[in-house]
Amino acid sequence: MSRQKYSSIITVLAVSICVLYLSLGFKNSENNRPLKDDDSKACIDCHSKEGMGVSIVQMWRESKHSKNDIGCFDCHEAEQSDADGFDHYGKRIATIVSPRDCGKCHEQEVTEFDGSHHAKAAQFIGSLDNILGEIVEGAAAANSGCRQCHGSIVQVKNGKLDATTWPNTGIGRVNPDGSKGSCTACHSRHSFSVAQARQPEACGKCHMGPDHPQMEIYTESKHGIKFQAVRSTGLMNLDKEEWVVGKDYTSAPTCVTCHMSATPSQKVSHDIGRRISWTLRPPVSIKLENDIEKRSRMKDVCMQCHAKEHTENFFTQYDEAVELYNEKFGKPAKGIMDKFYADKKLTKTPFDEEIEWIYYELWHHEGRRARMGASMMGPDYTQWHGFYEVAKHFYNKFIPDAEKIQKGSTKQVMDSKFHEWKKGLTEEQKKEILDFYKKRYGE
Ligand code: HEC
Ligand code: HEC
Ligand code: HEC
Ligand code: HEC
Ligand code: HEC
Ligand code: HEC
Ligand code: HEC
Ligand code: HEC
Repeated sequence: MSRQKYSSIITVLAVSICVLYLSLGFKNSENNRPLKDDDSKACIDCHSKEGMGVSIVQMWRESKHSKNDIGCFDCHEAEQSDADGFDHYGKRIATIVSPRDCGKCHEQEVTEFDGSHHAKAAQFIGSLDNILGEIVEGAAAANSGCRQCHGSIVQVKNGKLDATTWPNTGIGRVNPDGSKGSCTACHSRHSFSVAQARQPEACGKCHMGPDHPQMEIYTESKHGIKFQAVRSTGLMNLDKEEWVVGKDYTSAPTCVTCHMSATPSQKVSHDIGRRISWTLRPPVSIKLENDIEKRSRMKDVCMQCHAKEHTENFFTQYDEAVELYNEKFGKPAKGIMDKFYADKKLTKTPFDEEIEWIYYELWHHEGRRARMGASMMGPDYTQWHGFYEVAKHFYNKFIPDAEKIQKGSTKQVMDSKFHEWKKGLTEEQKKEILDFYKKRYGE
């Protein structure tokens, strides 16, 4: 045997030993230890192969579930009665893991979620938005748009999930087992980590855009700015099991700090409506049931970081902005529209007349932005994307269009104290404007 051949055999042997050692080493490492419950072992082995969703297995390995011996089958197991169950290599499983399935181990979270607006979000048939999405635009638009946020009604056809209704992880999805919601809407699978769900991006998929820009508002607020500044420092302690504001972190609030998470005197809740006193969604905002209690829960959050007077005064500013929108624009515009419908000046079909689009955007886009900006400390949304657009379209589109439909229909509104400025500024106001520009720009 030549020396060269000899050394290459040695190399091959050495490499083989290394490979063997490494693979044994991995087998024994923390991540690959066998589950106590062996039902999932076959799933893991087979799904670890290339093209089988290797990342699914890897993300599961990194999760609290894997570390607590909760395997694939514990979640994906299906009962005989599950319409979407199917036989899969000797086990009966379902692809969808619904809140009812999670509820076997997380009953509290599921009950709270089920009582919230999130669980009801797929029930929007009858709304103007639905007519817009489903009819004016079209069903495929609603499936890839509306329902990806709100949730589909999942259909099972010949034992398979119907492609027009799934994939879908909308927040209020109606599942084949009748339960409502999708926990993975906020908890990305298969890591299901609380640290991820505590970050604003978890909400940002849905809470953004022209009609509910909470994400954009948060980003421009002092809260979002501070969060960005500290998020990589560890000060937020995002992965702590308990996450109490004022105790486990103090630097900045995220969406869930204000809407879900614990304070020293309140527990975490998956009912995101517990601290909200106004609804900012309809044409005219109204106070919700038990609004005083809800408001005091929210103030309790603020006061972990702010003084009492700061908090009280903020809510005075906010309430006044909502009332201004309601009284000056919301109620008058709604009154004019209601009268048109009653007097048959408009057809019953929504969106077939231009004023219906103008009015819709007035409350549903611009009016919401103004109110939502004020609620979450985003001055640019309150002003330039909000009240400015409301005023511009109210005076220059809505009122002129209403006058075209019926002469004199806006007189009473325009004679009110809110709009009398249109009749002309006082001499004093005119002089103020002249003086301002003279002083600033010299002309
Ligand atoms: C021997 C290999 C093998 C085993 C064991 C196995 N799977 Fe699969 N799995 C597959 C293949 C191949 C597919 C894709 C084709 C199909 O749907 O049958 C799949 C698909 C799936 C899907 C997606 C189905 C869909 O609708 O897209 C889920 C969920 C799933 N497996 C979960 C599991 C669970 C949970 C276990 C253990 C109880 C398991 N698998 C065991 C090979 C396997
Ligand atoms: C904590 C519960 C849980 C565990 C544990 C779990 N899954 Fe899932 N899995 C889910 C949820 C929730 C979905 C999302 C399905 C839906 O609702 O649309 C899902 C979806 C899937 C899908 C289809 C979606 C896709 O992206 O392709 C596959 C395949 C799958 N799981 C395989 C596995 C395998 C393999 C394991 C074990 C390594 C596993 N799951 C462990 C909850 C779980
Ligand atoms: C068979 C029981 C079981 C099922 C089913 C189950 N879980 Fe869990 N889950 C656990 C256990 C055990 C833990 C770890 C608890 C702990 O560390 O205190 C856990 C932890 C969690 C956590 C906290 C993770 C963290 O980072 O601290 C989340 C979030 C979670 N589960 C979500 C879900 C969701 C969503 C589903 C359904 C898709 C689900 N679980 C299904 C048992 C289960
Ligand atoms: C990007 C995600 C997203 C899309 C797409 C979307 N929505 Fe929404 N929708 C939301 C969110 C988030 C809210 C709640 C806003 C809030 O409270 O500020 C909402 C609110 C609503 C409401 C008011 C519910 C109430 O209780 O007052 C209706 C109705 C509605 N949407 C229907 C639709 C329809 C129909 C479509 C499609 C034409 C659609 N949405 C598209 C996320 C979305
Ligand atoms: C709107 C987003 C959202 C949805 C939807 C959601 N979660 Fe959570 N979940 C969170 C956040 C955020 C936390 C961390 C809260 C904290 O500790 O401050 C959390 C925490 C948890 C925990 C850890 C223990 C606890 O209660 O803090 C479990 C378990 C859990 N969620 C299960 C579920 C289940 C099951 C569902 C479906 C019914 C679900 N979650 C739906 C956002 C969500
Ligand atoms: C998958 C889309 C989606 C995600 C993700 C989501 N939401 Fe929502 N949220 C909605 C929809 C849709 C509504 C309106 C539901 C309705 O009334 O029909 C809503 C409503 C709300 C409301 C109003 C509740 C009420 O009682 O009026 C709050 C507050 C809220 N979400 C907070 C959050 C927070 C905080 C997060 C992130 C932790 C989050 N949401 C994640 C879609 C989502
Ligand atoms: C500093 C606390 C705080 C933060 C951070 C915060 N919010 Fe809010 N949010 C509020 C307050 C206060 C209100 C108004 C409550 C009321 O009307 O009483 C509100 C209202 C809402 C509403 C209700 C709007 C409606 O239709 O009635 C939604 C939805 C919402 N927030 C989602 C979010 C999302 C998503 C984020 C993160 C991107 C977020 N919030 C961040 C405090 C906060
Ligand atoms: C976790 C701590 C924390 C919580 C909770 C919190 N804030 Fe803040 N808030 C801050 C920080 C930090 C700033 C930015 C201060 C700075 O940049 O100088 C801030 C800024 C503000 C501002 C901007 C005006 C100013 O003084 O600079 C307002 C208004 C405000 N918060 C109101 C609230 C309200 C209302 C709540 C409850 C709904 C709340 N905050 C909850 C930490 C918090």
